[in-house]
Amino acid sequence: MSFENRVAVVTGAGSGLGRGYALELARRGAKVVVNDLGGSPSGEGASASAAQIVVDTIRSAGGEAVASMDSVATREGGAAIIQTALDTWGKVDVLISNAGFLRNNRFEDLSDNEIDPIVDVHLKGAFYVGQPAYRAMRAQGYGRILFTGSSSGMFGHAWQANYAASKAGMVGLSNAVAIEGSAYGIQSNVLLPNALSRLEEVMTPGYMEIPAFAEALQATDFSFADGRMPPEFTVPLAIYLVSEACSATQGIYSSNSGRYARVRVCEAEGWVAPAGTTPPSAEDIASHFEDISELREFSLPRHNYDEFTIGAQVARKQGVHS
Ligand code: NAI
Repeated sequence: MSFENRVAVVTGAGSGLGRGYALELARRGAKVVVNDLGGSPSGEGASASAAQIVVDTIRSAGGEAVASMDSVATREGGAAIIQTALDTWGKVDVLISNAGFLRNNRFEDLSDNEIDPIVDVHLKGAFYVGQPAYRAMRAQGYGRILFTGSSSGMFGHAWQANYAASKAGMVGLSNAVAIEGSAYGIQSNVLLPNALSRLEEVMTPGYMEIPAFAEALQATDFSFADGRMPPEFTVPLAIYLVSEACSATQGIYSSNSGRYARVRVCEAEGWVAPAGTTPPSAEDIASHFEDISELREFSLPRHNYDEFTIGAQVARKQGVHS
């Protein structure tokens, strides 16, 4: 799977998953803009060295890369990141929107200083870097965009309302971009990654004070120590999704503990109200609520730890591990 003659932009590529994407894209021949603001796992501070170290690694292996330490969290920053690619190589073929950080807290206690920066970096940041990239891709009739969601956003996670809401927004954003981009050769997907990274440092265990959540976590047969994989396990899925070989668009794909799976938002068959002009009453809804809610063959994780459990069950069924 070659990326020769392709120009890729990876945001948040100074560490963790983004670093893995940038290195692998470059190894496969892409020219890479390595973007990273170089702040802490909770989004404080900045440093040019984070992006530059990855650029140096790529160059020393014979690849091509340039650094950008602009922030994705402002419109000017997003524009500057994409302009770096255009100024250096004249185009953008691939965007992996990946930058971000965490500021966890109880829902009722989340302050503006915990809501606004998280929405800015994850949700608005995806617009700020996505829009100029999309314009360039539209003009050339080709593009691959991968937005970074999270199983916290898809399935729920305590103490992450700010983050989960922003990450769930990637689904709506990508759906719209995929539909609009289909006329211009632009594909857009969402990745739900999972990897041991420095974000572990800011995963406050306080959410375990919520009984239902603690019970759910204990009930799962998943063990963090055994199941959390390094970024290299998520990198191949991301690389395929932004490759020319991939024709999938408007999808959501999960990489979790070595299991790769498409995620779908599903809907029950539901209950159809009798034909006529009179709308049903709330009592009608109540008496048919079982039919409305019934999801027969689908699995629907209630939170991201459920996904671990389901993954373990699937693995057991397939005899992959006990
Ligand atoms: P990481 O902390 O190693 O990497 C994120 C990078 O983004 C950092 O290098 C940071 O400096 C950079 N960054 C932060 N704010 C920025 C800004 N305003 N502009 C440019 N760069 C900025 O974390 P990791 O784990 O590699 O996370 C990558 C993405 O994957 C994030 O969006 C994260 O929310 C998401 N994610 C990670 C999961 C995991 O298990 N590690 C699970 C679900 C989602």
